[in-house]
Amino acid sequence: MTPFNIGIRKMNYFKPLLILFFLISSCKSNENPKNNPHALKEIKTDFVIAFGSCNNQTLANPLWTAIEKNKPNVWIWGGDVIYTDTYDMAYMAENYQKQKNNADYAAFAKKVEVLGTWDDHDYGLNDGGVEYSKKEEAQQLFLDFLDVSKNDARRKQEGVYFAKDYSVNNKIIKIILLDTRYFRTALTADNETKKRFKPNVYSEGTMLGEMQWEWLKTELKNSKASYNILVSSIQFLAGEHGFETWANMPHEVDKLENLIKSSGAKNAIILSGDRHISEISKKEIDSLTYPLIDFTSSGLTHSYSDFKGEPNKYRIGNVVSKKSFGILNFNFKTNAVTMEIKGENNVIYETYTQNYQ
Ligand SMILES: [Fe+2]
Repeated sequence: MTPFNIGIRKMNYFKPLLILFFLISSCKSNENPKNNPHALKEIKTDFVIAFGSCNNQTLANPLWTAIEKNKPNVWIWGGDVIYTDTYDMAYMAENYQKQKNNADYAAFAKKVEVLGTWDDHDYGLNDGGVEYSKKEEAQQLFLDFLDVSKNDARRKQEGVYFAKDYSVNNKIIKIILLDTRYFRTALTADNETKKRFKPNVYSEGTMLGEMQWEWLKTELKNSKASYNILVSSIQFLAGEHGFETWANMPHEVDKLENLIKSSGAKNAIILSGDRHISEISKKEIDSLTYPLIDFTSSGLTHSYSDFKGEPNKYRIGNVVSKKSFGILNFNFKTNAVTMEIKGENNVIYETYTQNYQ
């Protein structure tokens, strides 16, 4: 036996080990989920919410295939489903149809359940509220777009607010869609600075209107859910930027925070949109056993790409000013919720995990 033969025999013996070594090392290079979006699916996920806002029906819709890759149990429109500031309902219907005809969206909506609330540009009036004269007609067109049946309660009520429970593995996730347009009274223009709005005098005005507040109180008090997901088109926590935000009605911020506490509803998380940027805000609230998170995802077709920064004392992580969508992965075993701001090709821009009880 020549040394050469010994070498060959050793090579044959070690070959499977070598292949194994290369396989392991090639896997390792993808360990960081940022490098390999599919690696995240190895994280145990019991329920996935995907959401987003600000979608211009006349622009390319580049994100639907990426959103679908996350295998969402539900897609939530967070407002500005289309851009149709108008009093012409035929024009509004046409614009909804344009979005419905988008091939990628149509394919997505066939596979994934779609819920949603509206913001100002699909409502029909920029920064609009209770004063918009076509809101009843606009509501029916919005519900048509969502394929809400003609005998659904939302067809007869004022406003598009709605709640739905999802029972998964002996746990409930409750999704509560708020209507921040139909009843919202006047905001205060800021004439002293370059900001668009400044906060109303405390206790002046309503964000949700009396009826919707009563409904929300009942939904939260009776909630058996482990997670209560509140969808507000406009941001709840970020309040310094001067655009639309709950902070323009500081008494309404207090009211919602107090209701979340007094209702005993578990693990409330707020989802918002409107801003053409995405960010995660987090606030510790006295005597609430968990931090309140407001996860903003905005800019499905167009984003605030020349965003230069703005203060937000509750922000965690970075602002994303590229086109993006939001993902929430719920793990019932660890009670962790992993929130991701994602974009084209399913790339992760920001990720944050909150542990709940
Ligand atoms: Fe928008």
